[in-house]
Amino acid sequence: MTNVIEVKNVTVYYTHVCALSNVNMLVRDKEFLGIIGPNGGGKSTLLKVILGLIQPNSGEVKIFGQPPTKALGTMGYIPQFTKFHRDFPISVEETVLMGRLSGGIPLFHKYTKKDYEIAHSLMDKLDIYSLKDRQIGQLSGGQLQRTLIARALTVRPKILILDEPTASLDTESKSHIYEILEELNNDMTIIMVTHDMSAVSSHIQTLACLNVNMHYHGHPELTDELVNKLYGCPVDLIAHGVPHRVLKEHNKGGHDHA
Ligand SMILES: Nc1ncnc2c1ncn2[C@@H]1O[C@H](COP(=O)(O)OP(=O)(O)OP(=O)(O)O)[C@@H](O)[C@H]1O
Ligand SMILES: [Mg+2]
Repeated sequence: MTNVIEVKNVTVYYTHVCALSNVNMLVRDKEFLGIIGPNGGGKSTLLKVILGLIQPNSGEVKIFGQPPTKALGTMGYIPQFTKFHRDFPISVEETVLMGRLSGGIPLFHKYTKKDYEIAHSLMDKLDIYSLKDRQIGQLSGGQLQRTLIARALTVRPKILILDEPTASLDTESKSHIYEILEELNNDMTIIMVTHDMSAVSSHIQTLACLNVNMHYHGHPELTDELVNKLYGCPVDLIAHGVPHRVLKEHNKGGHDHA
C-alpha cells in the first residue's frame, strides 16, 4: 500500500503556543484514520497543516509526494465549525454546488450542467435530495452534516478530511454518517477527528492519539496507560461506556510510539 499523506517532524506555533511538536504520521491509501485527543491537543491544527491552510514552523507535509498546496484538488474537507452562518439564506442544493467553486464566491456565477449532475448524484447518495430547496438553517444537525459531506465530495477527492463530523448528533444520525463514511472508504482515504469513542471501536481502522505530541498511531486499541498520558486523567473518566476493544487491560510496553 502506498502512503498518501506523509507528515514529517511537523512543529506548529501560534505565537507562543506550541500546538504541534515534532509530529510524524504516515497515512496509507484507503486508510480510515481516527484522530482523538483532548481539547486544544492540536487535532484541528494537524488537519489544517495537511490541507496546506497553515504552514508549519518546521517539518514538512507531502500529499501524494507533493506539497499540500499542489494537491488541493485531491482533498475534501469538512471543518469543525462551518464558516457560514446557519441563518444565511442558502438552500441545500446551493450549499452543495458551492463545493464546485474553487476559491471565492463569484456574484453571478453560473454552474454548468455537469456541476448540477455531480451535486444531484451526491445529494441522492447522501439522502438529502428531497431537501434540496430547504434553507440550511432549517436542517437537523445530521442533515446539515450530510449536506457538508456532499459539498466536500463535489471535488471528487481522494482524501476526505472531517473534523468532528458527529459532534452533537444523536446515535442514529451518527450511525448514518458512519455508514456513509464506510462506503466512501472503499474509494478514498478518510481522516476523521472525533471524540466519539464508540466510533473508534467499531468504524475506524487506525487510531492516532494527539496531544501536542503524537502519542500513538496504530491499531485502535488503547491501553489505560496511554489514555492516562494522553488525557491526563484516569481512564474511568473517558472509559465510561467505551467498548472493551478500545480500552484494553493495562499493558506495559504496549503500543506507545511517543
Ligand atoms: N488561530 C489560532 N491562534 C492562536 N492559537 C490558536 C489558534 N488556533 C488554535 N490555537 C491554539 O492551538 C492549540 C491547538 O488548537 P486546535 O484547535 O488544533 O485543538 P483541537 O485538538 O482541535 O481542540 P478541540 O478538541 O477543542 O477542537 C490550542 O491551545 C489553541 O488554543
Ligand atoms: Mg478542533
